[in-house]
Amino acid sequence: MTYFRPSIDAMQGYIPGEQPQQTGFIKLNTNENPYPPSPRVIEAIHKTATDRLRLYPDPVARNFCESAGKLLGVSADSVLATNGSDEALTILMRACVGEGRKVVAPLPSYGLYGVLADIQGCCLKSIPWQPDGSLPSDFTAGASLALITNPNSPTGTMLPPATLLKMAEQASCLVVADEAYADFAPVNSVPDISQCERLVVTRTLSKSYSLAGLRFGFIVADPKVIATLMKVKDSYNVDAISIAAATAAIEDRTYFDTCRQKVLATRDRLETALAKLGFTVTPSQANFVWIERNDPLRPIYESLKEQKILIRYFHLAANKEGLRISVGTDAEIDACLDAMARM
Ligand SMILES: Cc1ncc(COP(=O)(O)O)c(C=O)c1O
Repeated sequence: MTYFRPSIDAMQGYIPGEQPQQTGFIKLNTNENPYPPSPRVIEAIHKTATDRLRLYPDPVARNFCESAGKLLGVSADSVLATNGSDEALTILMRACVGEGRKVVAPLPSYGLYGVLADIQGCCLKSIPWQPDGSLPSDFTAGASLALITNPNSPTGTMLPPATLLKMAEQASCLVVADEAYADFAPVNSVPDISQCERLVVTRTLSKSYSLAGLRFGFIVADPKVIATLMKVKDSYNVDAISIAAATAAIEDRTYFDTCRQKVLATRDRLETALAKLGFTVTPSQANFVWIERNDPLRPIYESLKEQKILIRYFHLAANKEGLRISVGTDAEIDACLDAMARM
């Protein structure tokens, strides 16, 4: 006896990275920003909490969309605000993919895609990256949606935006560039959305704006695509406090640039130090570093955890494993490197 659709009974739920609720951990496992959000965000939260909670929020978060549009050089109608970029992915999946259809994504990439596909009762076809870091030319063939984490997680590598644009031009489905980490990369796909209505970008304020706890993301796409996706979202999918805080965050460019520069400088230092410790380091375009080595890596993850330093261990395939270390403060990264050097 079951009350649920067969696909729901059969699926495994998503297992997020560890979020210890005790203090005292050095947390380098879920790519959060080590710096606090802009002081303007805190002011906006106080003001909204005092003045606005009695009323429903703006269902289309117009203030945020206008600010984001100005920042990215697109119209406000090209932006849809979401409850984290996970909700952006959920909206795209619900809008595009029905039972028995196919979603494609590279392997490895963001683990949530498979879970969202399972919920829709469809199948995620994970297509391995080619040895040269590209995707096969028939990547989108037969798919109802293509999802590409760019920069990729957990590897931190990146496809050139021109490659994604070409793929979207040749596809018969939406091609989504999941740009959760794009603020740490030199280029991104937003300037290309005007070239092809099938190219869609998702973004988050969780990483580069230090707002993982707030839950705010957005979609950037052709206004016609956004208008259709609007039909799928919950009526009040982002709350009044989040809208005000997210708008304040993206408007404080000086604060954003300062934190970003600090993260990028620490990332360089981390890459160099990990290479000196004998790891194979993949040059990162994100706020984390992916490392591999021929001997077993799980003991390193476990030993660090015993010392209250959390990083992420990935077993990707037989004989293929790696560690992903988020860029923390300099002090956090020094503590992690010292612990690794002692092993
Ligand atoms: C590739 C990728 N996309 C989306 C997300 C979700 O981010 P958000 O916190 O905005 O839901 C993550 C979070 O780790 C991610 O790694």
